[in-house]
Amino acid sequence: MIFDHAFETEAQIEIRELARKFSREKIAPIVEHDEETETFRREIIQGLGELGLTGIPTSDDFGGAGLGYQEYIGAIEEIAAASGSYAVSIAVSGLPQVILEQQGNEFQKKKYIPKLASGEWVGSFVLSEAGSGSDAASLRTTAVKNGDSYLLNGTKLWITQADSADVFIAMARTGGPGAKGVSAFILEKGMPGIKMGKREKKMGMSISHTMEVLLENVKVPAENLIANEGDGMKVAFAALDSGRITIAATALGIARSAIEAARSHANLREQFGKPILDFQGVGFMLADMLNDYQAAKLMVQKAAMLKDSGKPFSLQAAQAKVVATDMAMKVTTDAVQILGGSGYTQEFPVERHMREAKMLQIVEGTNQIQRLVISRALKQV
Ligand code: CAA
Repeated sequence: MIFDHAFETEAQIEIRELARKFSREKIAPIVEHDEETETFRREIIQGLGELGLTGIPTSDDFGGAGLGYQEYIGAIEEIAAASGSYAVSIAVSGLPQVILEQQGNEFQKKKYIPKLASGEWVGSFVLSEAGSGSDAASLRTTAVKNGDSYLLNGTKLWITQADSADVFIAMARTGGPGAKGVSAFILEKGMPGIKMGKREKKMGMSISHTMEVLLENVKVPAENLIANEGDGMKVAFAALDSGRITIAATALGIARSAIEAARSHANLREQFGKPILDFQGVGFMLADMLNDYQAAKLMVQKAAMLKDSGKPFSLQAAQAKVVATDMAMKVTTDAVQILGGSGYTQEFPVERHMREAKMLQIVEGTNQIQRLVISRALKQV
């Protein structure tokens, strides 16, 4: 087996195969059509939920599967191999779960996590703004305390699946400038004042909608504040550490699909009287693609293992994210090259994989921000 999962535990293989079967049977047949028409199907999330795949690392006390990130990354890789969009959707719906499990109080955990973990609800993470992307802590949305509630005002941008979300974790400023002035809140679909703005027209990942979200005098009960006032950026950054592992796993799935397509083509396509795989220019390219995929996979697994064992993993999550997503960009670009004229057409999935990979170098912290996190860890004090 060139894609060797033999070192995975039985539980990891079982979860991977559940996800693979569902993705091949239910997602792969509709993905090209739905990417074209920008159609997000809620029933896909519900179907994944029925298999226990929407809350894999979430505690079974709150309706999750009670497993770890090592199982989670296998499932995400399989979903991504069929559709990058649905892998990102599951990953983003996981962010409110990880936030509430780590930082929520008992009331918040019981109220929100079970429905997110079961796939009945979809979650969204509402951080970025037009003026605060990489510099997340400079956000300008305000939350002003008024009796037993807060009034939120501002405009958020690049928010994944906000238009289908039931629960949002939104960061807003309750204090002065900088990270210490930011707090995190739980918002619910239907709260007056939450409005959807424009939906971005993207180069890929179009099943997963990217929304502008307008918050106009949204009254949020004070009990929906997560942790304490001023903890918002810590809540967000800690969640992004976990999220970056899932984005890296998404990159693995996309890259693997591209390698499979390029390998098949290189075996079948004959030029000058032999399969093009037999020309070293192509064969060595595929060899490098496979090597790079497997090296990245080890880094993603290492970050997941560290997280599962409760050890610090911010650095390794950033490394896994940058290495896996840069790998996916290179591998998908090379796959298009190996398929040649066919690779550039929509008859084959590799051009979609290439467009999907590009997004992963940007979301949940650009790869420049990951390198910033890594270089900060190298600073000698
Ligand atoms: N975990 C917990 N706390 C953390 C942390 C982490 N990984 N990283 C930093 N913090 C804490 C710091 O300790 C600090 O608190 P104290 O002052 O009390 O020590 C506070 O958070 C602020 O940290 P910094 O001073 O390091 O923050 P900074 O302003 O210098 O920013 C950064 C650092 C790495 C550049 C950060 O801003 C960053 O990661 N930017 C990228 C943002 C991002 O990933 N956005 C993606 C949005 S979501 C998305 O893509 C789409 C979607 O739908 C999911």
